[in-house]
Amino acid sequence: MNIEAPEHSAHSETPLANALINLSKSNINSFHTLPLSQGRSINTSPLNRKYQQLLGEHYLRSDLTITGDNFDSFFFGKQAIHEAECLAAELFGADGTFFVTSGTTVSNQIAIDALCEKNGRVLLDKTCHQSLHFSLRRHDAKIDYLQPAWSCSVSEKHMWEPAELLRMVLAAEKERDPYRLIVLTAHSYEGVVYDVPGLIRYLLENGATTTSFLIDEAWGAANYFQQDLKALTAVRAGRLREHWPDLKIVVTQSAHKSMSCLRQASMIHYCGDANLAARLRVSRFRLHTTSPSYPLLASLDLARAQMALEGEVLMARSTQLAAQFCRQVGELLGPNSVNAGQYSSATFPYSHADPTKVSVNIENLGMAAREFKEFLFSEFNVYVNRITETAVLFNFHIGIDESAAHHLFAAIQSIVAKRKIVAAPSCSEGFIIPYPPGVPLVVPGQQITHAIRKKIETIQRSGVHVFYA
Ligand SMILES: Cc1ncc(COP(=O)(O)O)c(C=O)c1O
Repeated sequence: MNIEAPEHSAHSETPLANALINLSKSNINSFHTLPLSQGRSINTSPLNRKYQQLLGEHYLRSDLTITGDNFDSFFFGKQAIHEAECLAAELFGADGTFFVTSGTTVSNQIAIDALCEKNGRVLLDKTCHQSLHFSLRRHDAKIDYLQPAWSCSVSEKHMWEPAELLRMVLAAEKERDPYRLIVLTAHSYEGVVYDVPGLIRYLLENGATTTSFLIDEAWGAANYFQQDLKALTAVRAGRLREHWPDLKIVVTQSAHKSMSCLRQASMIHYCGDANLAARLRVSRFRLHTTSPSYPLLASLDLARAQMALEGEVLMARSTQLAAQFCRQVGELLGPNSVNAGQYSSATFPYSHADPTKVSVNIENLGMAAREFKEFLFSEFNVYVNRITETAVLFNFHIGIDESAAHHLFAAIQSIVAKRKIVAAPSCSEGFIIPYPPGVPLVVPGQQITHAIRKKIETIQRSGVHVFYA
């Protein structure tokens, strides 16, 4: 695989991880809390082995609760935690970064708390995560929803239109009640990616006076290291402050979704002044658990260093593996089976497709996506999460290597072979016979139409076996 050297400067220092490793080596008798720390409360327990199997000695040693000068303060850091947050801000190009150990669910609440004005009018992308919807409601915000304008019937990807966003913003300006805050999701799970800097510029150049933007980039932390996506990333919109200095941009990322972090590791990046930083700090103090997990914080530090060192190489590998998978599946199931209903930036300006998310329409296999998903898991140890009635979504994140990609394609080949259906064109090689009663539904050479597929699915769901002979 021919991959170019990384563009980002390599900040391989890991101050927080180093501090925690050092601390975990010392034999601390804590008269504070966390009896499990360093495995002390389970040393002689019959359950010790299971704890060790699940968490391991190193994890148990590093799950500590030492605060203040002996380590650092999570809320008002000056040492290792603060240094790690500064390195993260620098890598992502933000004015500052706050680490969060309770997921982006809480990061979003913190951001809303910091940005939302009492009874202020807010424009909310309807496709946003529940945390944003609930949080805005708790603030009694006056919410106008930006509705999706397009939806793909196969993959169920949906998108809203920038022109509609602008229309709503200008209508609010005309009513002399402009939006105090605009909340958008930058990157959907299905792989719709918006050009956030482009969109914010588009609004501001066309008369928007809104200065506060909250961008949920839960799925997009790794995009900063992907060749085609990095220019679209939300923190880059901070550069617009050169022309619009009052701009406040807050970006939330579920680092654990696309980087090598422990689950629930999240970051809040901001571009704005000291006042914004102070508001975010106070909001985090109010809403965050007062018992942040140290292993989780250290994993943020390590994952940031990994992306600085090799993020571009890893993302290039993911992109290449996904492209190769698209080609292979296209040949096997037909070209229309891959990323059906893909949109182009010509029809949807400011919208792009994440090349590492691949939606496969499995209609030609004559089996329901639910059955396909179960089959992949039980027979091949392949787990997918998102399915629609006829499509399955594969996320080529940085944990998917050549061997995993190869294994996935081999699994699909094997399922196709078992089904003995020639997928493209959609025409059956053999008989398809529900038994009982044993009357062929399809004979060799017959086109397998959508209606026939539906019928096969219904029959299978009713418990009747469908044989491919
Ligand atoms: C768009 C979006 N925002 C926020 C979240 C919440 O993130 P977390 O699971 O880190 O709490 C999710 C979770 O899937 C999400 O998809």
